[in-house]
Amino acid sequence: MKALVLSGGIGTRLRPLTFTTAKQLIPVANKPILSYVLDHVSAAGITDVAVITAPETGKEVKNYVKNGSAWKVKVTYIPQEPLGLAHAVKTAREFLAEDDFVMYLGDNLIGKGINDLIRRFETEKLDTMILLKEVEDPTRFGVAVLDDEDNVKKLIEKPKEPPSNLALVGVYIFSNKIHQAIDRIKPSWRGELEITDAIQEMVNLDFRVRAEKLDTWWLDTGKKDDILVANAKILDSYVKRQINGKTIDSRVEGRVTIKKNAEITNSTIRGPSIIGKHCIIKNSFIGPYTSVGDEAKIIDSSVEYCVILENALITGVDRLEESLIGRKAKVSKNHKKRVLKLNVGDYSEVEI
Ligand code: TTP
Repeated sequence: MKALVLSGGIGTRLRPLTFTTAKQLIPVANKPILSYVLDHVSAAGITDVAVITAPETGKEVKNYVKNGSAWKVKVTYIPQEPLGLAHAVKTAREFLAEDDFVMYLGDNLIGKGINDLIRRFETEKLDTMILLKEVEDPTRFGVAVLDDEDNVKKLIEKPKEPPSNLALVGVYIFSNKIHQAIDRIKPSWRGELEITDAIQEMVNLDFRVRAEKLDTWWLDTGKKDDILVANAKILDSYVKRQINGKTIDSRVEGRVTIKKNAEITNSTIRGPSIIGKHCIIKNSFIGPYTSVGDEAKIIDSSVEYCVILENALITGVDRLEESLIGRKAKVSKNHKKRVLKLNVGDYSEVEI
């Protein structure tokens, strides 16, 4: 079994962050999303991994993953123009050869590993195994219709009238038959070779296509609010009370990780939260479900349910909530009444 990790794409929905960062490298609980994906691949015992990269962000992804040894895997990089998920498989044809493989979207997070899924694919001798999750708004996703034995009967991409509420999660397992199916499909209206069309073709060809319903959480981190929810889930699941930084006249409540050389003065930090290395927090309240990246500074402020990236500066802000603040961004109070002073990048969003 090999793995194909998709870390290309454009990431339009997460602009402006994705002007300077690959979507898959945006940190959740101070660790890039891609790192959780590689953890799952590695924990499943897969060592031969290809990472699909896009022209704009490939270098950054390579700089982070390197040769994969941090996850005990061997990584091959495959550059791709973002022309669809099935196009990514086509581009990786030589690497995949005739082997079975897991395809894992590099911006998806799920609450458990993929070992059981792989075991089921192998013992039931399947050609495709997909993972599904019940969602409230299926119109945003690829949606599946199953028979009583979880065989896939039909797949529809972003249906206007969804036939079920079962959305396709970004983890798939394929046998080499997927290549035949991809060779038979045409680009969709948006000009992409869609993996849903390829899987539908597998069904049409009578190959063995089955689904499993995911019994834990799933997050597709395409937009700002998804990142905030993912951050909360990960903090809830994994963060431990571990205080390595310095605290002066401060309260640290619950499961809070404070990394080395962070300095917390006259402040309250409430868990689950994480404060990165070399952060400075002064006269502030950091509320639950907040991740603060390395070297960020938060002074005279109150911050809750936020993701603050490295080197950001927040000063004099009374209540910052449900916000995603990029690297080196500055958010501060100005002391002139009823005046807003903004220097906001392309595609930013500001709510006042
Ligand atoms: P998407 O979120 O569907 O696409 P995107 O990254 O272009 O984002 P947006 O819609 O905001 O513009 O992609 C899912 C994952 O697959 C993501 O990790 C990027 C990756 N991907 C590729 O590697 N190659 C591709 O051709 C596409 C479309 C996506």
